[in-house]
Amino acid sequence: MKNELNYSSYDIAIKRSDELEKDLQINPHKHRVLTGDRPTGNLHIGHYFGSLQNRVRLQNLGVETYILIADYQVLTDRDVFADISKYVLELTIDYLACGLDPQKSNTYIFPHSHIPELNQLTIPFLSLVSNAELNRNPTIKEEIAASGQNIINAGMYTYPVHQAADILFCKSDVVPVGKDQLPHIEMTRTIAKRFNNKFKARVFRDPVGLLSEVPVILGLDGNQKMSKSRNNSIMIKATEDETNKLIKSAKTDSERLIEYDPINRPEVANLLRLSSLCLNQTPESIAEEIGNQGAGKLKQITSEALNAHFKEIRIRRKQLEEDKTFVKEILNAGIRQAREVAIETLSEVRKAMNMEL
Ligand code: TRP
Repeated sequence: MKNELNYSSYDIAIKRSDELEKDLQINPHKHRVLTGDRPTGNLHIGHYFGSLQNRVRLQNLGVETYILIADYQVLTDRDVFADISKYVLELTIDYLACGLDPQKSNTYIFPHSHIPELNQLTIPFLSLVSNAELNRNPTIKEEIAASGQNIINAGMYTYPVHQAADILFCKSDVVPVGKDQLPHIEMTRTIAKRFNNKFKARVFRDPVGLLSEVPVILGLDGNQKMSKSRNNSIMIKATEDETNKLIKSAKTDSERLIEYDPINRPEVANLLRLSSLCLNQTPESIAEEIGNQGAGKLKQITSEALNAHFKEIRIRRKQLEEDKTFVKEILNAGIRQAREVAIETLSEVRKAMNMEL
């Protein structure tokens, strides 16, 4: 019964997302995107094909795009904070190199710790959810298990409420995320509705998780998701040599004939999929061209395809690395815009709660 319920709420989420996708094509200016990442490391090619490309697509459709760097959230699941500002810059460089363009589009990049009025929304929002609801969140449960920490700080339980503030402060309605973030989107929708009902106001709209069709990129070990902490990824910023070495070390199998068979030959299929994404050709047709030239040939093709695809991006990345002043200007402009919007929303929220002087 529980599973059935889960399934149906997932189905509903997919349906909502599909409808939103259609409207984004017709009415891009009616919508506002907000999404974000934790600044815990550089982005890898799994992030690129899984989410960055999609963000750039939405930006280029003309949708206003808020990209939030969740630096406060790093404190919930790590003991380290020394590298936070470094990775805020590194993430921004990855974004800009990959085509997010605050200079030409309505795109804003900012760390949420710099938006006081956003963070302040967390306080009224905390009173709109119960401990039981926070305890039930499956993503939090997994993250707690994965963190290996035996003392779980309260920020960990409550970060979905903070994330609701991330999403609602700018009244975004489009939240491109992976499936694992859906429980947080559900909580955000709940908070938005409860706020409007309780305070008899129409401050927030209903945000929807945009679950675009994204390819699953496995790690180079073949059977797990690409992830920096698993040491199985290729960074966007990797050099050609690093890319070649990593692809060479990728797990494959010993069959000479290369075929696209994701179920029985996941590692080979993964390399074919990567080549396919870079070459705009189906994985099947690439497999056919390789025929029985074996995994060596497959790896050569994959490395070449990746290095060609990321060439421009990596050149741009290098230039940005040399120009930190520019990168900081981009962040400051993002912060200015986000604050302007957050101040406006907090003032509406105060008014609704009868806290105006
Ligand atoms: N929780 C997200 C993650 O771990 C990051 C994040 C923070 C986020 N705030 C957000 C994502 C708001 C989407 C919208 O990846």
